[in-house]
Amino acid sequence: MEFELSEEQQQVKASVREFAEGEIAPHVMEWDETQHFPVELLPKLAELGLMGVIFPEDYGGAALGYVEYVTIIEELSRVDGSVGISVAAHNSLCSNHIYMFGTEEQKRKYLVPLAQGEHLGAWGLTEASAGSDASGTRSTAVRQNGGWVVNGSKNFITHAIHANTLVAVAVTDRSKGNKGITAFLFEKGMKGFAPSKKENKLGLRASETASVVFEDCYLPDENRLGDEGMGFIQAMQVLDGGRISIAALALGIAQGAYESAVRYAKEREQFGKPIAEFQAIQFKLADMAVQIEAARLLTYRAAYLKDQGKRVTKESSMAKLYASEMSVKVCEEAIQIHGGYGYTKDYPPEKYWRDSKLCTIGEGTSEIQRLVIARQLLRQ
Ligand code: CAA
Repeated sequence: MEFELSEEQQQVKASVREFAEGEIAPHVMEWDETQHFPVELLPKLAELGLMGVIFPEDYGGAALGYVEYVTIIEELSRVDGSVGISVAAHNSLCSNHIYMFGTEEQKRKYLVPLAQGEHLGAWGLTEASAGSDASGTRSTAVRQNGGWVVNGSKNFITHAIHANTLVAVAVTDRSKGNKGITAFLFEKGMKGFAPSKKENKLGLRASETASVVFEDCYLPDENRLGDEGMGFIQAMQVLDGGRISIAALALGIAQGAYESAVRYAKEREQFGKPIAEFQAIQFKLADMAVQIEAARLLTYRAAYLKDQGKRVTKESSMAKLYASEMSVKVCEEAIQIHGGYGYTKDYPPEKYWRDSKLCTIGEGTSEIQRLVIARQLLRQ
C-alpha cells in the first residue's frame, strides 16, 4: 500500500499548482462577479494536456491515470472550482463517454479534438423533470430516414453554450424504461440544436451552465453513441468515474478555504495575540485538516481502484458524498474563523463556500450517493 504520490505525480501536481496560481488566481473574483466563462484559458489548459488527461496519446490525450486526474482537479479547484468543474465535465463526462462507448470513427472524429483541447465538450443527462430520477428522461429520438429525429431539452449543462460536442441521451423506446434510452452525439451549429437559458448561479459562477433545446434535430445513425437502449446504463458507468472528479473538486475547494483560514488565523490579532494561538481556533483548524485528509484518502482510493480497472460505483459515491459534505462544512468554518471579514467578498472563504455547495448536488445529490452506496452494500 502506497500513501504517497510518485515523483512524476508530484511534478504534475506542482505544475498545475503553478499554472493555477499564475494564470487563474489573479482573475478569480472578477470572473465570479461577472459570471465570465474564461474561454481564453482553454488553449493554455490544452497546452498542459489538461483537456485530455485520462485518454491515450493515440487519441490526443496525456495518457495519465485517475490518480493524476484527481491531483489536477484538486489543484485547479484549490484556486478556482469553476475551472475545476469545467475540466472535469469536459474530461470525465463528455470525452470519457465517447472514449468508453464510441466506435473507432467516433473517437477519431470527436474524442481527438476534445482531448487535444481544440474542441470543448458537454454532457446532457439532466432534464427539467429528470434530475435525481435520471431515467425519467422525456427527450425523444425517433427513427426516420435511416437516422433519428430528436426533440426535447436538457438542463444544467456545463458548457452548453460554448461546447463543440454534446453527448446527450434520449428515449428511443419508452416501453423499455431505462433500457429504452440511447446516447447521441450532437455538434455545435446542427440544425434544430441550440443552447438556451444560461443559469445565474450561487457558486461556480465562472463555469458556464445553460440549457440546450432539440427541435426536430436530425442525426444520422452514425451519431448514435453505443448500442440502442444502453444510454442510461452507459451514463451510470460514466458517472462512476465522474463522481471521483467531483470529490476532487470538493477536496480542492476545501483545501483552498482551509489554507486561507490558516493564513488569516496567524495574521489576525485579538486580545493582544494572533487568533491562531487560541485553542478555539486551533481545534477548528485541526478538525478541518482531519476531514480534508479523510476525504483525500477516500478520493485517491477510488481513483486508484479506477486505474486498476475495478468497478468503483460504491467507492466513487463514497468519496463524492464524504468530500462534498466535508467541503461545505470546512468552507463554513473558514468563514467563521474570518469572522465578519469572512462574510465579505474581500476574503476568499465566502466564494469557496458558495462553490462547495454544488459538489453536494452535481453528478448526483448526497441523497442519491447514499442510495447508490446502500444498493451496492446490500447486493453483496
Ligand atoms: N454501472 C453499471 N450499471 C449500472 C450502474 C453502474 N454504476 N448503475 C446502475 N446500473 C444499471 C443497473 O444494474 C440496472 O440494470 P438492470 O436493470 O439490468 O439490473 C440499470 O442500470 C438501472 O439501474 P437502477 O435500477 O439503479 O436505476 P434507477 O432508475 O433506480 O436509478 C439512480 C438509479 C442511482 C437513482 C440514478 O438515476 C442516478 O444516478 N441518479 C442521479 C443522476 C445524476 O447523477 N445526475 C447528474 C447529472 S450530471 C451533472 O450533474 C453534471 C454537472 O455538470 C455537474
